Amino acid sequence: MFKLTAALAAAFLFLPAAAQSPIPDLVSAPPAALQFANGRPVSSSAAWPRRRAEIIRLFASKVYGQTPTRRLPVTFHVDSTDPHALNGLAIRKQITVSFSPRPGAPRMHILLYIPASASGPVPVFEGLNFTGNQSVSSDPGIDLGPLWLRDPSAPPTSHTLTRQTASADSRGRAASQWQVEKILARGFALATVYYGDIEPDFDGGAPFGVRSLFLKSPHATPAPDDWAAIGAWAWGLSRIADYLATDPAIDPHKIAVIGHSRLGKTALWAAAQDLRFSLVVSNESGKGGASLYRRIPGETIEHLNTVFPHWFCTNFHQYTGHPDRVPVDANLLLALIAPRPLYVASAEDDHTSDPAGEFYSVVLASPVFELLGKPGFGATAFPPVNHPVGSASLGYHVRTGKHDVTAYDWDRYLDFASAAFASAKAQ
Ligand code: GCU
Repeated sequence: MFKLTAALAAAFLFLPAAAQSPIPDLVSAPPAALQFANGRPVSSSAAWPRRRAEIIRLFASKVYGQTPTRRLPVTFHVDSTDPHALNGLAIRKQITVSFSPRPGAPRMHILLYIPASASGPVPVFEGLNFTGNQSVSSDPGIDLGPLWLRDPSAPPTSHTLTRQTASADSRGRAASQWQVEKILARGFALATVYYGDIEPDFDGGAPFGVRSLFLKSPHATPAPDDWAAIGAWAWGLSRIADYLATDPAIDPHKIAVIGHSRLGKTALWAAAQDLRFSLVVSNESGKGGASLYRRIPGETIEHLNTVFPHWFCTNFHQYTGHPDRVPVDANLLLALIAPRPLYVASAEDDHTSDPAGEFYSVVLASPVFELLGKPGFGATAFPPVNHPVGSASLGYHVRTGKHDVTAYDWDRYLDFASAAFASAKAQ
């Protein structure tokens, strides 16, 4: 019989819960980042671009769908500039981005805050928001744009959303998730767009979003690898970067992209495809984002495909019930960010996102960063809550609390990005 000595029992009992749980808990091993699909190893940094292209092709054909390469006649119009916004803390610009001269075509509205104290181009955090630009801050100067909201006259079971003007009382409702003053105080600009401007978030929403602008005919049947909502939102993030590249207040080499939850999945896919994003933050992006499909805990592919059938391409639906058959996994998505700095964060009570799966995905992506000459993650044991771990190129924390973005999260992201961009300047 195995007998615990008093010392052993004490050590065992007082280990933090996370350290007791062996992370893997996988249905099968995720594909290795440094191995081609044919089994050959990626043994040098010179071979990485070929493996990278292979991984991108797999994500595009089997997970998110293909992003069209055709350019639209995108135009930018600065609607307003207020040099004294937020009690003089910021310059606020609001910019309309038109994708097509067609009347009624979707357009997106960028809310941009630049620190008023800036003496030259500044780094920027760019991200999509869930509830409209007016929700990001209680700043009364933010335009009340149209949102996709439940129709009050529709039956409660209806999933149909309609375009309605944001109400004034929704101003600042998501302010705690955006921490505008904190971002500005650290010398960063913030650019954000309501994600529904790009594509509404419901099954059947495609005719109202940017994907409609790429259709040869409005009745065309989607191909199994046609892009879906996450692909469209990611495309929109790149169009924000297009604008930022034209704005002399912004340093185009210091664009950090951030996303929470489904918009974290989106930020990762955007940065995988668009190398202008020089730093990436995934806040609780979960399965379909930073978290491994093959981990048993957390959301399943079946849940993703059933509840959100419009997020991923049709091909992804074949993996419902078969996470072991997906030819990629989240570790490969994170590897596509290398060698650019990447921060992944989880929340203790966010079981859907599977915090340990997000952490382990970073562990498995780390060798790619090392191969490309960057410091590896360094961590292998799941950390205690509120103890950030990692290196200058790969950061991670799991904080106490629920699925959300908090001041604690932003403090970590601002520290990480400030250090990364300061060393970029020194090079
Ligand atoms: C749901 C979904 C997640 C997603 C989250 C969000 O919880 O299951 O995959 O990340 O919504 O976007 O808020």
